[in-house]
Amino acid sequence: MIKGKFPIDKFKKIETPFYYYDVALLNETLNLVEQESSKYGFMVHYAVKANANPKILKLIAERGFGADCVSGNEVQAAIDAGFPASKIVFAGVGKTDREINLALDHNIFCFNVESIPELEVLNELAKSKGKIASIELRINPNVDAHTHHYITTGLNENKFGFSMDDLKSVIEMTRSMTNIELIGLHFHIGSQITDLNAFETLCAKINELQDEVESWGIYLKNINVGGGLGINYEHPNHIPIPDFESYFRLFSKHLKLRAGQHLHCEPGRSIVAQCGSLITKVTYVKKGGTKQFAIVDAGMTDLIRPALYEAYHRIENISSQGEIEKYDVVGPICESSDVFNKDVELNSTQRGDLLAIRSAGAYGEIMASRYNLRRLPIGYLSTEI
Ligand code: LLP
Repeated sequence: MIKGKFPIDKFKKIETPFYYYDVALLNETLNLVEQESSKYGFMVHYAVKANANPKILKLIAERGFGADCVSGNEVQAAIDAGFPASKIVFAGVGKTDREINLALDHNIFCFNVESIPELEVLNELAKSKGKIASIELRINPNVDAHTHHYITTGLNENKFGFSMDDLKSVIEMTRSMTNIELIGLHFHIGSQITDLNAFETLCAKINELQDEVESWGIYLKNINVGGGLGINYEHPNHIPIPDFESYFRLFSKHLKLRAGQHLHCEPGRSIVAQCGSLITKVTYVKKGGTKQFAIVDAGMTDLIRPALYEAYHRIENISSQGEIEKYDVVGPICESSDVFNKDVELNSTQRGDLLAIRSAGAYGEIMASRYNLRRLPIGYLSTEI
């Protein structure tokens, strides 16, 4: 059984559960993103929601990427980590006045606007500051991303964005607003997309829409295709870095950008998921009638994805080389959904062994809660332990 490489002796000194981030892998991933996106001059805004650990944000900011934020606190965290405001985009269906004002004060690159009432409020708030807010309209392209229904966002039935049919009237509205400048269109069709055809369909929709918008005499400087590139949860050791080469090539091939137009994207999971593991200690091994349970000290409060989306994360016993046996790996939380996975093949497991729950760098630490009054998990970089 191939396992990830972990500094087990160092782990023994750290209180479990904790997140461990492999900085070498993160850097390798960032190198590839940089190399492939720069071939075409595409601009990358890291989706802060995937992992806002300040140390991770700093490593990404240092590379010159921009940030995609969905709350005022994310905008602030991005700025604190060193992302230039001129590369920050701010999305979200329910931006409050306080959040809009904060972003206006920082002069962020643009607001990704999702509704008419938001547009009106933004125009008013910008006016009272004597500023012009740059915006992209978020369009719901009605593309099925074939991913879990909780993380599909680009269908008509979702709450996000404007429908394609309303675009003309909304564009006209922005033109009559004194403190709004429309600089582009924004799309996002969902997350954990492993079939790149979904992005090809998105390109076709954008091309159609661009033709139409041009026929109204409107020129847009930016197209933002959102995030969503999936990772391989089954084989984090064999496929630790997503296929950014194909991803960026696809857009350069299928999207008909107009002269001088810039392409932006907002990858989150694909950048940080594989570098992170949740390290947990086995508290008890309990033998049932037909099953045995590895009861660990991490729970759904530390990593909620399995309980919330039935998500699969590979689990390895990094302390044992024993015979393979099957275990249900469960947490200590008083909820029957507090199960990381059932019938997991692990090297023979005992109390005190350390398990690594892999591919947990995205939507892991950041979605932790204090339910059952648990301590929030701490994230450590490989370079600091
Ligand atoms: N841009 C927008 C507008 C988004 O809504 C999202 C994610 C992203 C970019 C980044 O998408 P990514 O590249 O990470 O797929 N908590 C869920 C995922 C929710 C994703 C929400 N939006 C999970 O654990 O799977």
